[in-house]
Amino acid sequence: MHNNRTLIRGDNLEEMRKLSDESVDLIATDPPFNSKRDYFVPYRDERGQQPDSLVKAFTDTWTWGEAAEETCEHLIVEEGGQIGATIQGLQVFLNETPMMAYLVMMAARIVEMHRLLKPTGSLYLHCDPAASHYLKIILDAVFGNRNFQNEIVWAYQRWTGATNQFQRMHDIILFYAKDRKSLQFNTLTEPYSPKSKHKGKRVTTVDSRGILEQTYTEDTSRQKAMRDIWEISYLNSQSKERVGYPTQKPIALYKRIIQASSNEGALVLDPFCGCGTTLMAAEELDRRWLGIDLTYLAIGAVRIQVEKFFPQLRDSVIITGTPEDAETALALARSNPAGFEEWCVTHVLKFKSNAKKVADGGIDGTFTFPVGRVKGRKAYGDMVAQVKGGRYTLSHIRDFRTAMQNAQADLGVFVVTRQPTRGMQDEARRAGTYQHPVLDMSAPRLQIYQIQDYFTDILPKMPLGERVLL
Ligand SMILES: C[S@@+](CC[C@H](N)C(=O)[O-])C[C@H]1O[C@@H](n2cnc3c(N)ncnc32)[C@H](O)[C@@H]1O
Repeated sequence: MHNNRTLIRGDNLEEMRKLSDESVDLIATDPPFNSKRDYFVPYRDERGQQPDSLVKAFTDTWTWGEAAEETCEHLIVEEGGQIGATIQGLQVFLNETPMMAYLVMMAARIVEMHRLLKPTGSLYLHCDPAASHYLKIILDAVFGNRNFQNEIVWAYQRWTGATNQFQRMHDIILFYAKDRKSLQFNTLTEPYSPKSKHKGKRVTTVDSRGILEQTYTEDTSRQKAMRDIWEISYLNSQSKERVGYPTQKPIALYKRIIQASSNEGALVLDPFCGCGTTLMAAEELDRRWLGIDLTYLAIGAVRIQVEKFFPQLRDSVIITGTPEDAETALALARSNPAGFEEWCVTHVLKFKSNAKKVADGGIDGTFTFPVGRVKGRKAYGDMVAQVKGGRYTLSHIRDFRTAMQNAQADLGVFVVTRQPTRGMQDEARRAGTYQHPVLDMSAPRLQIYQIQDYFTDILPKMPLGERVLL
């Protein structure tokens, strides 16, 4: 049985394969869209400065290669049936294109999602017009077209420049029942006509995450069953909900899905959970939740959201797929140095992952902390980090000191997997001591931190400050 709140870092195909048949009530998910671009996270700091660099969050480009070939063969030969035939058909038309690679990746996962749903369960698959028509064919093949419920149009407004076409202002959410005869569905309502929209009284409410919402009391006399066109605002740059995750969706959208297709206590799965919009919506509505994402950054972002909005639940979230002890941390450092770095920066230190992935000047993460006021204005200090998963020498410590100076950082932490020599420790000590200007806190300016210490609850000395990963 699943815990009430679970986060899994890993590939959702493998992870879903480990879960039992018919164990999930609702899947609401927003996979990458085959948008042929990488998503970058704007790197903003607390001082509100403009993003001057970007950090790559995840890649949304698919190319036909060995993995696509293998998955394609699996679908045709092993799955067979409708989905095998559909994939073969699509292949004739699309050949070995990036779109075909994307669809094959999605088809294998849709097969798993179908298996996991209870007979009363539903899938809401969020996509955009670039691939929604192909995804619908695949969903028809896996779920059966009799189980197609709705093509929901999520319409929004946002600023764009003029082009030679109508502005693209909607996403598509495809809603399928596992079995429409036993489907769990709660009818939601909306005002009878747009004119009666604001008949009720205007009220300002605060949700459990402290976010203000302007709502209207219901005009119950003139309600009708809700349509499949949903007008919900897109998150704008001022929105309190925004954590900076590039494809973050509004919580109101996912709350509506969860209210319609599950009841309290139900298990909601999002296998492409990103920064956790579905999971936060499920938490608000007292559902159990399970989120899966490939990146340490996304899992770290969900953790930060939980700590910010539901601090009392911090210890009740089970996280798997991230190192659990020194041995697995060292194994990650050996097998996947980039993943190890991301984990150290976003999970262990809870620093912002460094933007300039290519030429990072020796800085892998930063943490900006408040140091009171200077001339009436808020002042900040900086702590920077570098991660060295493998061998390192005295000159690496020297280079990090230089990198700290170049970045004008107040403090630095050099994360390692092997014990430093006495010479290295002496070099670190030469950087001196930092004294916090307001708090009674001092620390060595340059700390060498052995990752094994994390598992005995020892962290580097760090000033207090709010954590923002993105
Ligand atoms: C469009 S985003 C989801 C955004 C999310 N709805 C939110 O509001 O933050 C898609 C996510 O899928 C993740 N992803 C892509 N391929 C994956 C895979 N094979 N397994 C698990 N997660 C994957 C990406 O890391 C990314 O976070």
